[in-house]
Amino acid sequence: MSTRREFLKTVVGGGMVLGAAQLPWLSACSHGDHESGERKPLAIPGNFAGGMLVASVLPNTHSGIGTQPWTFGSSTPAPTIRVSKGDTFSAQLVNQLGDPTNIHWHGVLTPADMDGHPQDAVLSGASKTFRYPVQNRAGTYWYHPHASMTSGKQVYLGMAGFYIVQDSEEQALGLPSGEFDVPLMIQDRRLAPGSTGYNPTMTDMADGYLGDTITVNGVPNSYFEVATGLYRFRLLNAANARIFRLRFDDGRPFVVIATDGGLLDAPVSTDLLWLGPGERVEILVDFSKDAMSASVMLHSRAFTSGLSGGGHAGHGGGGATTGVLPQGAAVEVIRFDVKRAATSSAKIPTKLALLEKLDPNTATKTRTFELAMREGATMGMHTINNKVFDMARVDEQMSSRATEVWEFKSLDAGGIHPMHVHGMQFQVVSRSGGALNANDLGWKDTVLVFPMETVRVVARAGTYPGLFLLHCHTLEHEDDGMMLNVQIV
Ligand code: C2O
Ligand code: CU
Ligand code: CU
Repeated sequence: MSTRREFLKTVVGGGMVLGAAQLPWLSACSHGDHESGERKPLAIPGNFAGGMLVASVLPNTHSGIGTQPWTFGSSTPAPTIRVSKGDTFSAQLVNQLGDPTNIHWHGVLTPADMDGHPQDAVLSGASKTFRYPVQNRAGTYWYHPHASMTSGKQVYLGMAGFYIVQDSEEQALGLPSGEFDVPLMIQDRRLAPGSTGYNPTMTDMADGYLGDTITVNGVPNSYFEVATGLYRFRLLNAANARIFRLRFDDGRPFVVIATDGGLLDAPVSTDLLWLGPGERVEILVDFSKDAMSASVMLHSRAFTSGLSGGGHAGHGGGGATTGVLPQGAAVEVIRFDVKRAATSSAKIPTKLALLEKLDPNTATKTRTFELAMREGATMGMHTINNKVFDMARVDEQMSSRATEVWEFKSLDAGGIHPMHVHGMQFQVVSRSGGALNANDLGWKDTVLVFPMETVRVVARAGTYPGLFLLHCHTLEHEDDGMMLNVQIV
């Protein structure tokens, strides 16, 4: 049930209050969470600071994948890259997949030829060295393949990892660290008996490839043992298509400290958080008042993914693939079990980082991107400004460092589109559907656009010239061509 309370968001250090948002699709689906079976301990991916990174298919099955995993560094999730702002990052991708691939460093500003454009695919048997200076603010970014029409398959089969940047401003804040700083990659997969690999149907291409089981760091139905202290969780939605509406089962508030592009200026307290594919958010969660052996579940609350009556076949959950959890189903994400007394004394800071606020009034241009579904098409069902992706066509040109207002205008009543841009970050200005969400604050590279909604952002182009991409991060929509080339000149 939706309650008034969950919309009341207060700011710890700032004074802004966020109001209700997206009311039309917050219908109160009142069925409970999808029941999950036995829960397994969370795994934390290993670290990677650079060097050789082999892309390969592992012969064995893996509990979190249910089929032969496709991997970077023989691990799924891929190893976590940890770098500091100012470092030169360098990795040599060696492609042993038997399929073209490449790497996109999602949210990380890189030269165009390092950004994983499908034009720069690395053929099977070939390799490519990526090398660039890390210019991003401290934050939670990620990496995944971006070859032509195969992002959905390769990410689904296991190729995605965290890319964590730290800087001195962040280090001075005394945020929870070490075992209290935990990356959580949320995905869903089809693990029911008989599921094999990645075989999207037409419905899956329309709705996105939805699973029957939620995994965190590749572990299905996971739990994580915590101490009675303050934790920093870095949440990444690396699902192909599933959108999460996160809340703890006891409704406890938690504190948002960072979004896609790193730290906010001040912490924001909330108890509900939308997280679309591609988005990240860092939250502080306090277990210090919990009893030893208490358990608290992070779950995703039900929502309606399309406006009633406005959907097309396959949207809104009605025509979903048998056995999968429809978009918007209530699901359990991960359970936290309180097991030890805390050894950390980290506190919630009142101020975070310097955050430049872009003024939409200084924008030199406004661009509108119309997002639509074409009925009856078998390919190119999803369009931006009536176009389907063409790798060689330049769709938009933008000057480096230009500040522009971009308007994502959904003409699709049947689905939610997480819109993502490469080569730059933006700040969300407004939503026609209501107030901003807690995850709309700060620097962003991905934003949810709800059915028939117009989301305005103010974007600032990066410094590197060349071809970058704008696309829907529902990976089946991206692979179906819901993507444009943005050339920075
Ligand atoms: Cu995470 Cu172009 O994508
Ligand atoms: Cu990206
Ligand atoms: Cu989409």
